[in-house]
Amino acid sequence: ISRRPFIVAIDGPAGAGKSTAARRLAGRLGFAMVDTGAIYRAVALAATRAGVAFDDDARLGDLLPGLAIRFEPAPGGGQCVLLDGEDVSAEIRTAPISLGASAVSARPVVRAALLGLQQRLATAAGHRGAVLEGRDIGTVVFPDADVKFFLTATPEVRARRRHDELVAKGQPSTLAQVLADQQKRDRDDSERAVAPLRPADDALLVDTSGLPLDGVVEALADEVRARLAAR
Ligand code: DC
Repeated sequence: ISRRPFIVAIDGPAGAGKSTAARRLAGRLGFAMVDTGAIYRAVALAATRAGVAFDDDARLGDLLPGLAIRFEPAPGGGQCVLLDGEDVSAEIRTAPISLGASAVSARPVVRAALLGLQQRLATAAGHRGAVLEGRDIGTVVFPDADVKFFLTATPEVRARRRHDELVAKGQPSTLAQVLADQQKRDRDDSERAVAPLRPADDALLVDTSGLPLDGVVEALADEVRARLAAR
């Protein structure tokens, strides 16, 4: 009898260290990794290219079924995101697409269309387990996940991390602008009616503000191993 892969949910706001922690955790455990934010970003990019407004439910509803969004191992490690076969990994990380992703993610028509895709990517054959990273993994996508983590950090620490990331990628940004964009996204993500950002009741809260990332990954891996052993 094959059981469902072991599901690790990692939720939290932007800049809490989710992406890096999730990627390293998945690598260590030999689990699949699903960056669900990248999926919302790909939808925002597709909408932009098609000239569809981020709040045009009717046209978003028409656009979504035709989109092929998938992940592939990147040549230098990590993953790339493919939209209709094209590698859009860099293009989905720009500031306008970040805001667009937040906007489309507030539309129920979009969330409904992406639910099955996220679940399928996580349970695809061949993986012992999967790490999903997002905002509503523990509350909506996998309410019965085997482990749920909710990562947070202070707004200043999160903005500083995002800013450093953008600078490292050669994208122009100022800390003040990153902080302002982040505040808007945090507010929108937390206050939206559908699947707002909030920890699941049974999520473990991890404040990563003062912690080195290695320590965070270590703590998460210990917890996952303990639960795997107990399963
Ligand atoms: O994690 P990220 O910054 O790549 O996510 C981009 C946007 O997508 C973010 O503003 C919120 C949204 N999102 C969501 O609503 N639900 C998820 N599971 C993942 C991301």
